[in-house]
Amino acid sequence: MKGISREILISPNPKQQAFFESTARYTAYGGARGGGKSWAMRMKLVLLALGYDGIQILLLRRTLGELRENHLFPLLSLLDGVARYASTEKEFRFPNGSRIRLGYCDTENDVLQFQGQAYEVIGLEEATHFTEGQFSALTESNRYSGQMQVPFRPRMYFTCNPGGVGHDWVKRLFVDRCYRTGERAEDYLMIKSLVFDNTFLMERDPEYVRTLMALPEARRKAMLYGDWNAFEGAFFPEFDPEIHTCMDFEVPVDWIRFRGLDYGLDMTACLWFAVSREGTVYVYRELYEKDLILSEAGRRILSVSPEEGSIRYTAASPDLWNRRQDSGKSGFDLLHTAGVSRLVKANNARIPGWRVIREYLRRREDGTPKLVIFRSCKNLIRTLPLLRFDTNVIEDAADTPHEITHAPEALRYGLMSRMPKPVPKAVPFRSGLYTFDKPPAEEGYGQFIAY
Ligand SMILES: Nc1ncnc2c1ncn2[C@@H]1O[C@H](COP(=O)(O)OP(=O)(O)OP(=O)(O)O)[C@@H](O)[C@H]1O
Ligand SMILES: [Mg+2]
Repeated sequence: MKGISREILISPNPKQQAFFESTARYTAYGGARGGGKSWAMRMKLVLLALGYDGIQILLLRRTLGELRENHLFPLLSLLDGVARYASTEKEFRFPNGSRIRLGYCDTENDVLQFQGQAYEVIGLEEATHFTEGQFSALTESNRYSGQMQVPFRPRMYFTCNPGGVGHDWVKRLFVDRCYRTGERAEDYLMIKSLVFDNTFLMERDPEYVRTLMALPEARRKAMLYGDWNAFEGAFFPEFDPEIHTCMDFEVPVDWIRFRGLDYGLDMTACLWFAVSREGTVYVYRELYEKDLILSEAGRRILSVSPEEGSIRYTAASPDLWNRRQDSGKSGFDLLHTAGVSRLVKANNARIPGWRVIREYLRRREDGTPKLVIFRSCKNLIRTLPLLRFDTNVIEDAADTPHEITHAPEALRYGLMSRMPKPVPKAVPFRSGLYTFDKPPAEEGYGQFIAY
């Protein structure tokens, strides 16, 4: 390049090389500590600035302090004699008209400063430190700047570790690859790199790996092995309000209806389900109230359920069948006395139950999911995406904060009640054959004995 007074010699490792070569719309690199992320980001942007005359590049970190330590100082030394640093604008100006501007987004609104600007390339360092709102605002500035003479497809590069305020969106787009309307899978590429891939660090600082190994288990899994499920992160990244919720509508009278109930004095969460003729399950009503004793909970349920006669059954937490020592009565007795009939013991197997929800959230071939929630069910819609992974039991959801678990549990009870049960075997009984449970009337229904 004209005006360059010295050569920059670099030797990327194979993962960094793949990052350099990616021209995807969105490329993420890393996923664990020490994989050479910051180095790769810096070098990639410098290579672009040198390779394309007039290219406009923005490199962001969350805070100014991180930006200075992580990139400004290394770039000042790397680009000494190559590009001029303008400190007021915090940008490196290359003789070929290219520019690398450094920025940060400390607060949610800091991102507004980039509105109306245009950068062909935006680099987000430690992308999980940015909110989804910030990321989405930045995509608006990722466009042709008008200063390049050759065609160039605008793109963004990310580096990331699990954890942080942006864990969910980064995981959804690059790890789980769950896409919403308007997002295209082929636009997203993740290049996973671990500290073991960073030959430079492994040779010069093997102690660092031992430091990572000594981390507490969940953090070690995340930071050493790049396990995005080890902590934080939405339990149901599949949940997308755009396809999993709908405006309320009058449920046709002939649709099958049932309920899921998670009772606790701290919260009664009850959901009403209806099954369309095509087999889509709608959650069409919720009751979400705290401090209700069982008889009150029963009465409240009935008071909001004018179609009570057509509710086939209510799948409720099995502990309601335990008898209390003081009164000798069970929660089931109290609810039954309050008028909630046809209570059935819910299948409380947690992990299979979560899998069933996941299955219902998945899009079918026509793009629609099997589960849709009426928008009036605000608490279910609010809490389902807040569920987090348990740090100890793989595939289970964390039960803290406890408040967010009630509606998803009621959902689990309800959907589990629809799972087909193996046809019961006939067992010999005295002189004849006695079938202890009737085969379900419709497949998947009434698998529990109805009262
Ligand atoms: N290809 C390379 N050539 C020379 N040095 C490299 C190379 N890749 C990484 N390094 C060096 O390895 C060290 C760790 O790399 P870097 O800081 O990029 O890792 P990181 O993944 O960003 O780490 P962290 O997770 O702590 O942010 C740094 O000193 C960096 O300069
Ligand atoms: Mg780094």
